[in-house]
Amino acid sequence: MRKRIVAGNWKMNKNFLEAEELVAKVADALETRKLKNTVVVLCPPFPYLELATDIACEAKFSVGAQNVYPDDSGAFTGEVSPVMLESMEVEYCIIGHSERRKYFHESNEFLALKLNALLKHNIIPVFCCGEVLDERNAKKHFKVVEKQLTESVFHLKKDQMAQVVIAYEPVWAIGTGVNATPAQAQEMHAFIRGLIAKKYSKKLADEISILYGGSCNAKNAAELFSNPDVDGGLIGGASLKEDDFMGIIDSL
Ligand code: PGA
Repeated sequence: MRKRIVAGNWKMNKNFLEAEELVAKVADALETRKLKNTVVVLCPPFPYLELATDIACEAKFSVGAQNVYPDDSGAFTGEVSPVMLESMEVEYCIIGHSERRKYFHESNEFLALKLNALLKHNIIPVFCCGEVLDERNAKKHFKVVEKQLTESVFHLKKDQMAQVVIAYEPVWAIGTGVNATPAQAQEMHAFIRGLIAKKYSKKLADEISILYGGSCNAKNAAELFSNPDVDGGLIGGASLKEDDFMGIIDSL
């Protein structure tokens, strides 16, 4: 049975004390929850990973990073390597987020290198894909997502692919308050699962978690998550407040 996952992508938010407070609050709130086949992942900024992993070892959440550089070490000022993340017991890492693609010009080819690097160091990649509004309006959204997956992910061998989590995040839904409708999300998730089945096998496709991201909140999460191919969410804004985030977790 594939895992159901709610991951909080804090992006570039919170000072140290605020981060400490939020991690503690989420840990407390999770203590009383029964999380059957559900994984909660907190993805704070790099400087707060250690405080999160310190608490995570006794709490019911895992820790993820928001980015990684593909090399193990070297003269790459300001970057963080998969070796560093692995040595801090970071279990997940988001890659291919639309903000990285847009502001840092990360290409599908570069993301393929990041994916390989994470898998080499036993970190679960959360690979984001999704179209911008113009592409959806031009009915090119399936083509765009297929290209992103083909150029960044589908070179993996079967056993590597089995480790990957996919997040479908339509760019027009991120931080806008306009979420994809449950039907739009289901349609794309089923398409992605179909591509994986075609490239690998139906069995493998059925085992891969595909998360939805983009203005997911405590009000719309239950309907989005009730779709057969939506296995949870990658949550931005609503992961910054414990109540909102827990409301989403409780919707799963
Ligand atoms: P949002 O962001 O929930 O604030 O729309 C989601 C994301 O960017 O991962």
